[in-house]
Amino acid sequence: MNPTLPSVSLADVRAARELLRGVSIETPMEESRWLSALVGGPVLLKCENLQRTGSFKIRGAYTRMSRLTEAERARGVVAASAGNHAQGVALAAQMLGIKATVFMPEGAPIPKLNATRGYGAEVIFHGAYLDESLLEALRFADSTGAVLIHPFDHEDIVAGQGTCGLEIMEQAPDVETVLIPLGGGGLVAGTALAIKELCREQGRPDVRVVGVQAAGAAAYPKSLATGAPVALDSMSTMADGIAVGRPGQVPFDAVREYVDDVVTVSEDSLSNALVLLLERAKMVVEPAGAAAVAAMLDRPHEFGTPAVAVLSGGNVDPLLMGKLIRHGMAAAGRYLQLRVRIPDTPGGLAKLLGELAALGANVLEVAHERLSTQLQIDEVEVRLQLETRGLPHAEKVVGRLRDCGYQVWE
Ligand SMILES: Cc1ncc(COP(=O)(O)O)c(C=O)c1O
Repeated sequence: MNPTLPSVSLADVRAARELLRGVSIETPMEESRWLSALVGGPVLLKCENLQRTGSFKIRGAYTRMSRLTEAERARGVVAASAGNHAQGVALAAQMLGIKATVFMPEGAPIPKLNATRGYGAEVIFHGAYLDESLLEALRFADSTGAVLIHPFDHEDIVAGQGTCGLEIMEQAPDVETVLIPLGGGGLVAGTALAIKELCREQGRPDVRVVGVQAAGAAAYPKSLATGAPVALDSMSTMADGIAVGRPGQVPFDAVREYVDDVVTVSEDSLSNALVLLLERAKMVVEPAGAAAVAAMLDRPHEFGTPAVAVLSGGNVDPLLMGKLIRHGMAAAGRYLQLRVRIPDTPGGLAKLLGELAALGANVLEVAHERLSTQLQIDEVEVRLQLETRGLPHAEKVVGRLRDCGYQVWE
C-alpha cells in the first residue's frame, strides 16, 4: 500500500460506530448564542467534554482494544498519556477485562491520574512530556509483551475517533465549517475523514475542516509544509491534551488528505476561551478542549456558518481552573491592585475606605506599609486588592481617588 494514502476508510469508521454502541455516548450538540452573535451566524458546540471519561478518547481506545485477539488480551495493554487517553484505555480495559498499565508525564493533572487509577489501571510516571512517556511505554511493551495502545497513531484509533464526525454530520446536516483541537492528529484525522467522505457519498457541498493547535506546541504546520511528520525541539503550553511533539504517520496522511487548514492559538486565547465557555456557555472544558473556540474568538469572521466547534475534553484540574478564572477576571478589570499613600493620622484609613465604599469597590485585602524609606515619617502606604465591576469602573475608582488628593499606583 502507498504509505502516503490514508489507510482508514469511511467503512472503518462506520464499523467502529457499531462496536461503540452502548460504550460511548452520542454527545450533545448545543448552539451557543453568545458565539453565534460574535461570529454572525449559528455556532454549535459538539460536547465531547460530556463524553464518558470526560473526553472523546474512549471512542478510539475501545475500538482498538475490542479488536485484540484473546492471546493479546491475555498479555495486557500499555499506554502513554497525559491523562485523557489513559482514562479511555483504563475504562475500555475494565469493560473488556484486560490488565492496563499507563505511563504518564510527571505533572499530569491530578484528576486525570485519580480517574485512571479509579478505573483500575496501574499508573507509572515517566518524563516531562508525552513523547518521553511514549518511549518508556514502548520499552515496557518490548520487555513484557503487553500490547501498546498508541494515543493516535493507529488505524483503529483514527476510525474510533472518526465516529465523532458521523455524529456531527447527523446533528448539524447544514454545517459549513468544523473546528477541532489537534495534537497527534487522531481526532482530527478520523473526524475530517468521516465528514469529507460523507459529503462525497451524499454529493453535498464540501465542509471546511480546520485543525487547531496551541502555538507553543504546533508540530503540524511544519510537518505539512515538509510533507512528513517533523518533531518539534521544545514545547510550552498549558493545553496538555494537545502538547504532542511529533504527528503520527497514520493521522498525518489523513490530515494531509482531508483537512483544509491548521491554525494556531496563543495561551491567552486558550485561557480566555476556557473562562468564557464557563461563564457564557456553562461548559467546563480543559485548555485543549477550548482550542476550537479560541480560534473562533481570535478570528470571528474567518469561518463560514453554521460552524461547529468540538469541545474535545473537560478534564480540568480545579486548581488550574481557579488560577485561570483569577487571571481572566484580572484581564477583564474585575480585580484592581493599588498602592495608596495616606497620612499616618487617626481616621486616615477609615477615610480612604469610606471613599472606596462610596464608589462601590469591594475591598478584598488591605495591608499597611510603614517601614519603607520612600515614606515620610507621617505617611503610610496602603496596599489594596479590590473587586470592581469591570475596566470602566476600575478607571473611575483610580480617577476619583486621585481627585481626592491621594497618590495612587496601579
Ligand atoms: C482534550 C483533548 N483534545 C484534543 C486532543 C488531541 O487529540 P489527538 O492527539 O488525537 O490529536 C487530546 C489528546 O489527548 C485531548 O485530550
